[in-house]
Amino acid sequence: MFFADQRMPRKKSEQYGQDWGIIAKFVSKPYHFAETRIGNHMRLDFLREYAYVLAEKVITHAARKKNEQCLRFFPSESLSVPRRSGNVPTLLYMHIPFCEELCPYCSFNRVTFQEDAARPYFAALRKEILMYKDLGYDFNALYVGGGTPTILMDELSETVRLVKSLYSIGEVSIETNPNHLTPGNLDVLKAIGVNRLSVGVQTFDDALLKALNRYHKYGSGQEIGERLAYAQGIFHTLNVDLMFNFPMQTIEMLDKDLEIIISLGVDQITYYPLMSSSRTQKKMQQDLGGVSYSRGREFYTRLAETLASHYKATTAWCFSRSDTMIDEYAVNYEEYAGLGSGAIGHIGGTAYANTFDIEAYIRKVNAGILPVAAKRDFAMRERLCYEFLMKLFGLRLNLSSVNAKHGVNMYYQLWPEILFFRLVRGLTKEGDELALTKRGQYYWLLMMREFFIGVNNFRDYCRAQANTNRETA
Ligand SMILES: C[S@@+](CC[C@H](N)C(=O)[O-])C[C@H]1O[C@@H](n2cnc3c(N)ncnc32)[C@H](O)[C@@H]1O
Ligand code: SF4
Repeated sequence: MFFADQRMPRKKSEQYGQDWGIIAKFVSKPYHFAETRIGNHMRLDFLREYAYVLAEKVITHAARKKNEQCLRFFPSESLSVPRRSGNVPTLLYMHIPFCEELCPYCSFNRVTFQEDAARPYFAALRKEILMYKDLGYDFNALYVGGGTPTILMDELSETVRLVKSLYSIGEVSIETNPNHLTPGNLDVLKAIGVNRLSVGVQTFDDALLKALNRYHKYGSGQEIGERLAYAQGIFHTLNVDLMFNFPMQTIEMLDKDLEIIISLGVDQITYYPLMSSSRTQKKMQQDLGGVSYSRGREFYTRLAETLASHYKATTAWCFSRSDTMIDEYAVNYEEYAGLGSGAIGHIGGTAYANTFDIEAYIRKVNAGILPVAAKRDFAMRERLCYEFLMKLFGLRLNLSSVNAKHGVNMYYQLWPEILFFRLVRGLTKEGDELALTKRGQYYWLLMMREFFIGVNNFRDYCRAQANTNRETA
């Protein structure tokens, strides 16, 4: 997560601050030249554009470099999570790694669904839930992600009910696919107390759905629209995940998707940029074509402007109609435990990753051992960087509350980053708060995209390790 390698000698990590300072200098000069002297007097718009593109490239490059360092986890056979201390609000994330059809762009830990593998998995998951109780944990919220959590409704219900009986759960979010939006399933989800249902749609364009391997199993654009219309109004928040910047996607396809989703009037839209690991990009090249991140701003500007008159931005890529719950739980919960195969948690300044090998996961849990396979401790500056990234992704950051929580002054600690983003007009300071500008929302989208590409590379690495271990066992 997060930015800077704690294994580096101190001098080098201080260098990091200087890096941003140097970057700020190089960007600010042509930027101000373009924005003020030339921009005002000669109206050379292309120089403005140059400054914008330059800032975009610098941010992407710096974020990619830092994520590579910070997502270096340390594997070990004998890892555990600590007993609970303190009472920071904590979320329980549960991962269900089974899908009826696998999509070519996706790097999450998922395999093709087989009932005889999924049932023992759910049983093991319930044992892992009990292990956290024994370690003294309590959780305020539950997020079930996948894969496809609704793949076996009876197992999902039993597992959610267990979590709610053990912990002080205030809100439940669950991800699903459009073909599971049946009246029967929706009744069950309502009965087990789901507040936020998140449906992965990606696009309504049939040609694109076919290329993404989703048309036959998850439904045509028309069918998806009808199912969403039926599901709207049942839950506190119905969220729809859409994606932009697929290789064969055009602005016309995006416009059509926007027209359909606006007409459906769902509570919330999360519009992800394509964020593919290096390995996935190579695989996608054959079927879908090459990924070009340079088209991202055009797509994002179009969708953000179109949605602005119907929805309010609640993060850089989430648009809501009212007081809906947002998708990125890390914005509201600094601490979260990750349960299930391939889940990642963040507790007390350390990130923990469970084994990506589903069979090994079941074996370990059944033997009474927590299935943690790797961890990464973060130094204070890294924790502040993570909070800076996540809180501002949610558009605002209150400096006093961050300072009180960590006992340090964020403004002094992260001055190079804050200076840089103020120079490129991404951030404003309003009293005690830092806030993103419209331009800043796009910069944060870039940083989050790079962050998740880094996470996806890490997932690919873990899966490859799991396969190697299985072959050599
Ligand atoms: C991991 S899926 C799990 C839920 C469900 N299976 C689905 O397809 O929606 C959750 C969401 O992640 C997003 N997603 C998956 N892979 C992505 C990628 N490579 N880049 C951007 N978003 C991605 C999709 O929008 C998807 O709806
Ligand atoms: S996008 Fe959803 S359905 Fe497709 S492979 Fe990923 S988790 Fe499964």
